[in-house]
Amino acid sequence: MCGIVGYIGYRDVYNVLINGLKRLEYRGYDSAGIAVINKESHIYKCKGKVADLERFIQGKVVSGTLGMGHTRWATHGEPNDINAHPHESYNKKFILIHNGIIENYARLKEKLEHRGVKFISETDSEVLVNLIAYIHEKGNTSAEIAVRLALSKVVGAYGLVIACTDEPDKLIAARKGSPLVIGVGNNEYFLASDATPIVEYTKSVIYLNDDDVAIVSRDGLVLKTVRNNMQTPRIHQLDIDIGEIDKGGYAHFMLKEIFEQPQSILDTFRGRVAQDLNDLHLGGLFQVIDKLVEAKRIIIVGCGTSWHAGLVGEYLFEDLARIPVEVEYASEFRYRNPIIKPDDIVIAISQSGETADTLAAVRLAKQAGALVLGICNVVGSSIPRETDAGVYTHAGPEIGVASTKAFTAQVTVLAMMAMLIGRKKDLLSEMQFRSYIRSLTEIPSKIEKILTMDGEFRRIASLYKDSNNFIYLGRGYLFPVALEGALKLKEISYIHAEGYPAAEMKHGPIALIDHKMPVVVVATKDSSYEKIVSNVQEVKARNGIVIAVVTEGDTVIKNIADHVLEIPATDTLFSPLLAVIPLQLLSYHIAVMRGCNVDQPRNLAKSVTVE
Ligand code: G6P
Repeated sequence: MCGIVGYIGYRDVYNVLINGLKRLEYRGYDSAGIAVINKESHIYKCKGKVADLERFIQGKVVSGTLGMGHTRWATHGEPNDINAHPHESYNKKFILIHNGIIENYARLKEKLEHRGVKFISETDSEVLVNLIAYIHEKGNTSAEIAVRLALSKVVGAYGLVIACTDEPDKLIAARKGSPLVIGVGNNEYFLASDATPIVEYTKSVIYLNDDDVAIVSRDGLVLKTVRNNMQTPRIHQLDIDIGEIDKGGYAHFMLKEIFEQPQSILDTFRGRVAQDLNDLHLGGLFQVIDKLVEAKRIIIVGCGTSWHAGLVGEYLFEDLARIPVEVEYASEFRYRNPIIKPDDIVIAISQSGETADTLAAVRLAKQAGALVLGICNVVGSSIPRETDAGVYTHAGPEIGVASTKAFTAQVTVLAMMAMLIGRKKDLLSEMQFRSYIRSLTEIPSKIEKILTMDGEFRRIASLYKDSNNFIYLGRGYLFPVALEGALKLKEISYIHAEGYPAAEMKHGPIALIDHKMPVVVVATKDSSYEKIVSNVQEVKARNGIVIAVVTEGDTVIKNIADHVLEIPATDTLFSPLLAVIPLQLLSYHIAVMRGCNVDQPRNLAKSVTVE
């Protein structure tokens, strides 16, 4: 999604903006631009990457201490130089960068055109900057009033930064639906769509709430609402370090994040597992644990990889806590007139905490009176701020667009929640509970062991990198892992891949199998092992190529499959945490060998803040 960076202070703004845009590259974008504002405004923007923008700007005027930059992920209008941000108003007085969608832009544009305003781009954002300029000009208002009046007329979502050449020592920022963070330094302010461009300068941040408008000048910051009600800014301290958002010697963020998983899972349960392994402390659930224990139904909502983690959650809650679970795509749930009862518990899973559909599902569930919990990674993001309670995954910043360590952290939290409820309901004996906790604490070292086999995963990747299609099969807890493996492959290598419940293969996908089709079967030792052996046989009988993820020491599948990827044994409920690792690495190596941009795959965004 679009990235926003703004600066006012004493530093050379060009460097702050370009560094900030590079930090935001991970969000996914197709064009970029900056505006440096001193007595005049200098706007430079072009289709392509930040490096293209740097080349384009070489030799041009960029000196100044106030400005804004943007990476655009196209919604309205194709990615090109004109549609790129910043946008300037028809009278050249206002400059704007915008993340989000102005839903009533067509009607507003028509009205403005009727009054003689000319447009040069196809974007909804240009409509907004022209509306502000028009109100400013006709109403003879201050920039701030024009912005607030214009915002009261728009329907949709925005995170935006605006400058006015009449008031050149000021930036105005506003938020509704799309996140915006303000970094507070000494005599300087940073504005950004997430904290990554800010963290190297200051750890003190203010998260804007919906309908907030911040007026940031060299004299300080004023926070109010669109309706002009004064707000008291609350300063939070970021808990991330600059090292966490660097590649740390790895070729890609995705690879770094895959290799971080022993540590990130440890961070997820650190401080939450009692030393004698007989208790779990999930502080964020302390106030609501009784309601969880009494829950009649849990509804899990999420998108993409977070939805896959939710599917694992379904198995966990039903197995350990005996609570019926429904797992919903947030985008379907919110528009389906769902039946939500006040005694339902809705759990929203989101790495970013900003996914628009998941956030909308949270609001819907709250309106319906359900208790709403969040499982999120980004501290201070919108979903944790709007839910009644929740658990942070503490996996650290995830920069690679393809989610890896966030998934394993989400599953870890879900497992801890299910174990805790199961124990409180007396469905798990103390012995069983302890044994599960011990198994969980052994997961990081087992992942370390899997990571040492990376060379073998790379070798297998090299054999199948030119395939056009893949099928992924799994049963039970490993069915969501099959879905996740297929998603990783298509996201970053652009190979078509389908994840299927292994037994369901007979009802369709089996028709696709021939000697060219690699079939990745996740077949570790659990209660459905015998059944999945039969599924492997069915694939081999049709000449398919079987790449099987198996438990160490497996001899049965080893004799049938073309390749086996061995992982250590663990309890079934934790098997997704191990089985997903070879699949992440397989996709990673295939994508690298195909020359794909692993960290910024085409068309994808890290956090989808539009519907
Ligand atoms: C985007 C990302 C996916 C992610 C999904 C949900 O599509 O590309 O990797 O799984 O959003 O994101 P969330 O931040 O809500 O987990």
